[in-house]
Amino acid sequence: MTNNAICIYEVGPRDGLQNEPELIPVHDKLRLIAALAETGLRDIEVGSFVSPTWVPQMADTAAVLAGLRYDLPINYATLIPNQRGWSDFVEASQKLPRRPGEIAVFISASEGFSRANLNCSVGDSLDRIAPVVASATAMGIRVRGYVSCVVRCPFDGEVTPAQVVRAVEGLWALAPMSVSLGDTIGAGTPDAVRSMVSAVAQSVPVEALAGHFHDTGGQALANIEACLDLGLRTFDAAVGGLGGCPYAPGAPGNVDTCRVVDRLEALGLATGVERDALARAAEVALAIRSKARGMGDGNR
Ligand code: HMG
Ligand code: MG
Repeated sequence: MTNNAICIYEVGPRDGLQNEPELIPVHDKLRLIAALAETGLRDIEVGSFVSPTWVPQMADTAAVLAGLRYDLPINYATLIPNQRGWSDFVEASQKLPRRPGEIAVFISASEGFSRANLNCSVGDSLDRIAPVVASATAMGIRVRGYVSCVVRCPFDGEVTPAQVVRAVEGLWALAPMSVSLGDTIGAGTPDAVRSMVSAVAQSVPVEALAGHFHDTGGQALANIEACLDLGLRTFDAAVGGLGGCPYAPGAPGNVDTCRVVDRLEALGLATGVERDALARAAEVALAIRSKARGMGDGNR
């Protein structure tokens, strides 16, 4: 990848849909992922092997994996919180024509969100994912690590760069391929993001860092630009601006992939995403959501 090439990591089918209260049928999720696969996006997070009691919307992730096309050059990733999720992933993978090449694990920089999202402390969450990272790595499966609440926590308030560095270093010690820095409730400003990323970049090479911005405060694009200045080239986004975390009150939407592509291309950076195809995928995303909410036929 040249310095002008950007990787957009599409999280709509997972982060975007996980918060939808009405269950979305597998065939609609597959329709969305198929539309995304037409856009030039190469990394799509398609679901998570988390507790169905905690996040009912993701309970069908094995069925989603089973319905995907594996003749396309797409990296389908799933989120895994613990050994049980890892076992479920391995079992689901065995039935597929091609084993997914990537999983994601997740921790928080703040204790309050860790308890709300994972029912354990940050230290315990690292202990839980350590064997998952080791098993995946031993099988040649790439591991992406998320750190949430890198600017602010909905329970603990401000999160300092030093707290983020501590969490990132704990995660990085497990040797994931990359670390995605999550502004879970979209509270970041370019100044806060710059301070946080500059501090983290002392511990982890910028090439291994990604920015994951929710857009609650309308600052996500400015925050992405702040990250670009510091050398980051991977950004998470959700088609149609879908999104939110069920355990982060006030986290409505991920930054919209279409807006990210438009801004980056305007800055002369290459995303490899075909804008018309992305607009079609956004229509599918919004139609699926409207249908689930009982607001339309969802057949677009
Ligand atoms: P727990 O209740 O403490 O789990 O939840 P437990 O270990 O005590 O087990 C309780 C029961 O759940 C047991 O079943 C387990 O087998 C089962 P029982 O014996 O009672 O029948 N269980 C599971 N079932 C299916 N899959 C599993 C699993 N694990 C245990 N993996 C747990 C702990 C981690 C499971 C729970 O807290 C959880 O699932 N949390 C995930 C919440 C989540 O998915 N949040 C959204 C994703 S993170 C996010 O959105 C942020 C991000 O976008 C970045 C950003 O924006 O910052 C990534
Ligand atoms: Mg998120």
